[in-house]
Amino acid sequence: MTDRLDPGRPVTHEGMQATREIKDVQDKIAFGDSLEHLEWDGIRELDYPPPRWWVLTFIGTILFAALWMVLYPSWPTPFGTWRGVLGYDQREVVAEDVARAEEARAPLVGAIGAAELAGIQSDPGLMNYALRGGQVAFNNNCAQCHALGGAGQGFFPSLADDNWIWGGTPEQIEYTIRHGIRNGGDEARDNIMPNFGADQILTREQIQDVTEYVLSLTGRSRSAEAAERGATLYAENCAACHGEGGAGLQELGGPRLNDAIWLYGGDRNSVFNQIYRPKLGVMPAFGERLDDATIKMLVLYVHSLGGGQ
Ligand code: HEC
Ligand code: HEC
Repeated sequence: MTDRLDPGRPVTHEGMQATREIKDVQDKIAFGDSLEHLEWDGIRELDYPPPRWWVLTFIGTILFAALWMVLYPSWPTPFGTWRGVLGYDQREVVAEDVARAEEARAPLVGAIGAAELAGIQSDPGLMNYALRGGQVAFNNNCAQCHALGGAGQGFFPSLADDNWIWGGTPEQIEYTIRHGIRNGGDEARDNIMPNFGADQILTREQIQDVTEYVLSLTGRSRSAEAAERGATLYAENCAACHGEGGAGLQELGGPRLNDAIWLYGGDRNSVFNQIYRPKLGVMPAFGERLDDATIKMLVLYVHSLGGGQ
């Protein structure tokens, strides 16, 4: 038989016919009469049954799926999703994981909640935990405004330098975080710079003079005379909030005007516009949203960023 199927033999019509006949006999022996042979234009299609291993695997997958659907949540129905006889619920699994994590955290968080800031600072283990917890809380709650690492962006001040509008001691930082700034809350930090131009408190010329004085504080005045006129106006109208010589006044949130750090721009136009019709920053209060321990961790983290006083 192998002789006749020798692949080296030249393929002839008779040869193919003979091969086909042999295959027919083999099929007859293997499958009896159940095998159908279709013939289209001389091309035969043999309807072999699928191999047993394949059929078993196929049935196996169907059974597996059926069993899964009985055991686990699977099938949406008009009356709600089938919950499965095992009662497995991924939400519960997550809730349990979270509860376990909370439990593991509880001693440290409890200790932080109970301790004074100074007490935390003097305990290296607690302090380390507080700084890392503070960083996470900062990224979640503050970084969208103050940028990662408190670097500041746009009108949102840097918290990583030693230039503070409202103060950089832990207590001052805590107050700012708890009550926020100009958010309408009763205890929010609140101080409104008057609209000197828009409300006609000063004339345009006077505002130009006082702008000149402000620029002179950083050595950028173009007219000593105007700056001198501006100095008088400054003492009368501005020093109450911005301090003598633009030194700043943290109790009132009046920023320093004698350094190179500007919230709203330090060029002539920006300073003029700020005096004419001031921009004022707003920050939400976090005292109600975050628990005590988280706020303490935030205070310590912000205080550690570089400019803590
Ligand atoms: C929606 C934006 C926003 C969010 C969120 C925000 N802040 Fe502020 N924050 C501000 C603005 C604006 C100011 C400056 C207000 C001003 O000009 O007086 C500020 C000021 C501060 C100050 C005072 C800076 C200084 O120089 O005295 C601190 C401290 C501070 N933020 C900490 C935080 C912390 C911590 C968080 C997160 C819990 C936070 N902020 C979330 C907008 C925000
Ligand atoms: C009632 C208090 C108050 C008075 C009076 C006041 N300011 Fe202000 N000024 C502020 C506060 C508060 C801010 C900061 C606003 C903020 O943080 O968003 C500010 C911001 C500024 C800024 C912007 C600083 C920056 O970093 O960009 C300039 C410039 C300025 N004031 C100049 C003046 C001048 C000049 C006068 C007097 C003509 C004056 N201010 C009077 C409270 C005052």
